[in-house]
This record gives sequence, structure tokens and C-alpha cells, in this order.
Amino acid sequence: MSLNIADLSSATKSALAAIASAKDLNQLKVVKTEHLGDKSDLSKASQSLGKLAAEEKAEFGKIVGAAKSEVVAAFDSRLRVLETERDERVLVEERVDITLPSSKQPKGGLHPLTILTNEISDLFIGLGYRVAEGPELEAEWLNFDALNIPADHPARTMQDTFFIEPLDSKLVLRTHTSPVQIRTMLENKPPIYVICPGRTYRADELDATHTPVFSQVEGLVIDRGITMADLKGTLDYFAQSIFGPDVKTRLRPSFFPFTEPSAEVDFFFNGRWIEWGGCGMVNPKVLEVCGIDTKEFSGFAFGMGLERTLMVRHGITDMHDIVEGDIRFTRSFGTGGR
Ligand code: DAH
Repeated sequence: MSLNIADLSSATKSALAAIASAKDLNQLKVVKTEHLGDKSDLSKASQSLGKLAAEEKAEFGKIVGAAKSEVVAAFDSRLRVLETERDERVLVEERVDITLPSSKQPKGGLHPLTILTNEISDLFIGLGYRVAEGPELEAEWLNFDALNIPADHPARTMQDTFFIEPLDSKLVLRTHTSPVQIRTMLENKPPIYVICPGRTYRADELDATHTPVFSQVEGLVIDRGITMADLKGTLDYFAQSIFGPDVKTRLRPSFFPFTEPSAEVDFFFNGRWIEWGGCGMVNPKVLEVCGIDTKEFSGFAFGMGLERTLMVRHGITDMHDIVEGDIRFTRSFGTGGR
């Protein structure tokens, strides 16, 4: 194109018109190639400046330059408008409703203590036992008196027991699962084979090894001809099922008002003896309170702390982990969601 002002101005006009009518970024891109690209009239006009004489070059150079800047400016502003429109549209079209429920719902899980309780229940059910339960808010008589725990026994004092007001209600938060033994014997005739897992309460501070709300499992067998050998065999089976087939138990003489004789049970685990719980032959005084003929029947009982059992088995060193319900802890037991 030889340089012609009329042509230049019509090229500019049609470039401006094309830019203004570009409806989206794709169209604008085409317009850019057509009107600002190497082969466009405006570029050709710039190229043809070279062929002009010096004065004309200066004069026309300004005109061509001004035309080009006008078109570039129009292009830039249209580009910004179309980009903004595109961004706004994308925000609407690609909107994600973050309030919709996720399809990835973590499954809840049982607490490790519950898992252990179920495991122990299953194990004893397999031996023909029944699972018995009793209330956590218990009559003082069942928690203490019927178990031959005298009024002056230290376990009764305010330090250990949560008494319920008014005090003449004679109710306590049960300090052990042993009252379930009494309930079971009062309600059932021997032979009796039960375990009683459940929550128990004592006025202890929560620390690495204590918690005021804890759990026990009680075992009670009343039948004809029951001896300590049956108790020992049952404890061995229990310990081996929970801690491993090579685990041994030993009994150390001890005292509990509701058993005679009484013993502490230890088990040998990871190279050392570990205290596990209490046990013994049910005291005839307790059988009599429950109306069981001591000439015909005898029995054994045992009681273990479940938190302690869980801690030893899994190498848990801090009671807080069991109590606090942090799923980072329960997850390591394969429960608690992902
Ligand atoms: N009730 C006792 C306690 O909480 C534990 C216990 C000891 C239970 C001996 C028993 C038993 O059944 O025979 O410390």
C-alpha cells in the first residue's frame, strides 16, 4: 500500500470497529492478527515509511504512529473488559457449593476401650458366661455393705467415693463393678457364670495413670465344687487371650472383704510381672447375704481395670490419651475415620 491518509484512516476505523465488536477473547485474538499483525494495513503502512524521503517520513511517521497507538490502546482496553467478563463468568459457571455434603464421609469408630470390652465379653460368652450390667448410680448397700465392706473401711471415706446428696439417699457412684455380683446373685440362682464390664468412679485426679471415671470388668462364678484351681485356670485363659498365648499369671495373697481367700493377679508380659487386678473365692458371708447355700455352692470372683489392661497391651503411657477422645489416638486402633 502506498501511503495514503484516507486509506490509513479507514484502516484505523475498521480496526477500531472490529475491536469494539469482538464479543470474546477468541474473536479479539483474530481481530488482533487481522488489524495489528504483520500483514495488517497498519503494519504495512509502517513498513512503507521506509521508502519515503526523510521529511515525509517524519510527517507520516507521526500519523502512522498515532493511528497505531490509538488502535493498540483500544485493543488493550477491550482486552481488559473481555478478560474481566470472562473471569466473572467462570466464577459463576464453575461455582462450587462448599456447603454440599462431601461424598467422602469418615466412618465413626468404636473407642479402644469399647473394643476391648467387646473382646472380653465375646471371650467369656465363648466360655458360657453371660454379660451382666448394673447401674453406675448404685445403692451404698450394694456397693459396700453386701460386699462385706464395713462402715469404717477406708474405701468408703470421702477421698475415694463420690457420695450423692442428700447423703441419706444412700446412693454412690459405684466405686467398682463388684455390686453387680450382688445384684446377679440376688436375682439368679446358681449356677452363675457372669462377667460385668462397666464404668466406675473414684475421687482421683486425672493424671498419666489415674482417671476419676474408669472401667472395670468383674467376673463371678458360683457353682458346685468351684475351687481356686478353676479361678487360676480361668485367669490364665483370660490373660492369654488378651495378652498372648505365652502369658503366665501368678496369684499373690491379699485381702478383699468380699473374697476369702483373696489374691492379687499379676501376669508376666514383656519380661516383667505386671499387676492386673484382684480375685479370690467369694466370701461365704457374701453368699449368705444373697441367700446362697454355702454348703452346696462356692464360687470365685475377679476384677480388673480395663484402662490398665489397654495401656499395658498397647504400650499406652498416658491415661489422657484414653480419656480425651482425640481421633489421632483412636485411629491407631484402626478406628475413628480417615
Ligand atoms: N472390686 C475390687 C476393686 O475395685 C476388685 C476386685 C477384687 C474384684 C477382688 C473382685 C475380687 O471380684 O474378687 O478394687
